[in-house]
Amino acid sequence: MHLLIPAAGSGKRMGSSQNKLLLNVLGQPLLSWTVKAALASQSIEWIGILGQPYDFPAFEALLAPLHSPKPVQLITGGETRQQSVFNGMQALPQQAKFVLIHDGARCLATPDLFDRCTEALQHCQGLIAAMPVKDTIKIVNADGWITDTPDRQNLWGAQTPQGFDVALLKACHEKGKQEGWEVTDDAALLEKCGQSVKIVPGEDTNLKITTPVDLAIAEFILGQRLA
Ligand code: C5P
Repeated sequence: MHLLIPAAGSGKRMGSSQNKLLLNVLGQPLLSWTVKAALASQSIEWIGILGQPYDFPAFEALLAPLHSPKPVQLITGGETRQQSVFNGMQALPQQAKFVLIHDGARCLATPDLFDRCTEALQHCQGLIAAMPVKDTIKIVNADGWITDTPDRQNLWGAQTPQGFDVALLKACHEKGKQEGWEVTDDAALLEKCGQSVKIVPGEDTNLKITTPVDLAIAEFILGQRLA
């Protein structure tokens, strides 16, 4: 399985002036933990990391000590996550028929989750890891008033990995570009194109590290796993 890791974002919501994926988590850059989990997955055979070129020296420095037995390629990302993944799709080796996409910011995903997504992709053309939401979700208007409370039973929080048939995802990205759609995950492009996307049970701990409190939780969980 080929894996793309979008890692070309910034640290704005983290309150950091550098890419949050380079922040220190238990003595290593956050992105190292994400890559190590992917390398430990039996099903992943090739990794492409999307980044901004000014981060490439730091990416190379964190990759060197991992001594990856699998090819790891750095690819120039875009201004948005959607553009970064678009670039990654163009850079996939020709033989790639399926692809997993996993946010660099989700450094707590386990190798088993990558393997389960790979297995599930043999039975569908699009899938995402997801978990039922715990909170009641409110739809709120611009003035701060609640307009609706969707039934929680039908609500799931989207995670990554997300997995796709390469030709289908490329076509949906092209369509999205033509139509000017702006989405925050790749499944949304398939949905807008009328394609079905399946849920694979995600992991409670598979947080997207976004704010300083997430960083503290990640250190705690990774520390527990090492103990
Ligand atoms: O900002 P957020 O955490 O939602 O981004 C999700 C993932 O997409 C992160 O791993 C981030 O590095 C990546 N990203 C990207 N290119 C961008 C913006 C975000 O690869 N231009």
